[in-house]
Amino acid sequence: MRGDTQDQSEDDQQAAFYQDVVAGLSQAQKTLPCRWLYDAQGSELFEAITELPEYYPTRTEVAIFKQHLPAMAAAIGAEAHVVEFGAGAGTKTRLLLDALTAPKSYVAIDISAEFLAASMATLAADFPALEVIPTVGDFMNASDMAATQLPQGNRLAFFPGSTIGNLLDCEIVTFLHSVRTALGASGKFLIGFDLVKSEDILVPAYDDAAGVTAAFNLNVLARINRELGGTFEEDSFTHEARWNAGDGRIEMHLVSQREQTVAVNGDRFDFKKGETIHTENSRKFKMDGFMKLASEAGWTFKETWTDGKGYFAVALME
Ligand code: AVI
Repeated sequence: MRGDTQDQSEDDQQAAFYQDVVAGLSQAQKTLPCRWLYDAQGSELFEAITELPEYYPTRTEVAIFKQHLPAMAAAIGAEAHVVEFGAGAGTKTRLLLDALTAPKSYVAIDISAEFLAASMATLAADFPALEVIPTVGDFMNASDMAATQLPQGNRLAFFPGSTIGNLLDCEIVTFLHSVRTALGASGKFLIGFDLVKSEDILVPAYDDAAGVTAAFNLNVLARINRELGGTFEEDSFTHEARWNAGDGRIEMHLVSQREQTVAVNGDRFDFKKGETIHTENSRKFKMDGFMKLASEAGWTFKETWTDGKGYFAVALME
């Protein structure tokens, strides 16, 4: 494993976090970028979400991979250099690396240094022939890192989990375009994205009976308190998941339970009762809508795989 590359120092991250909190809480619709949900606690809670009975995306996508990986690997080809944006615990990564013929290197780009260090050490031990290159950073700014860290050859970007759906449309096109530029003309992209389905399935997936998603959402307030000296009282906010049919997305909000003022490092923010902080969008795509966004960024679909219910899709683009 190449030495832990700290591309973004802890101080830079704290400064960026503080800036985002002040800017987000100063808007009429208060908002916090969803990247800050993922500190060590948030990443652990997200892993727990992926195992919830209501949260269908992970198990559906894993089933698609298990069924179709031989075809995917054949289409990708041998000796791939893989870059993954926002590397998770690695179940899907492992499935992919196992299925590929003689993969050469694996660049993992993730915002959480602690989480990355732990998961990449295990991966490197399990795949001794693979060069594992952990890279700390936000995947939105990651394409330059990918371009510099990823060796020349059969380059593959891997972005499972419908994390693409946590971006706005304009950011999706910018991100897909920057990946295309970073990988070069012969690069390929294996990407998972969630599909539109009934609200009865969507809302519980983001508001589970056990309250794990609520804890995941509320953790961002605790993180502001821990890292930025905030004075949020967690039990004065509650989690809400809303289906926004017009924009085709689930929105996560934190709802203020009373009128209150919260301080963050000297800045003060007033909340009315019922006012929300919008913390995440999770887009649910129609197949042709996703294809259109991808083609705006210069990608064409080579092959697409879905599950029997049409809940989720994985596409290989070139
Ligand atoms: C990481 N991302 C794809 C998840 C999603 O489904 O949008 C994050 C998540 N938020 C709440 N539950 C899961």
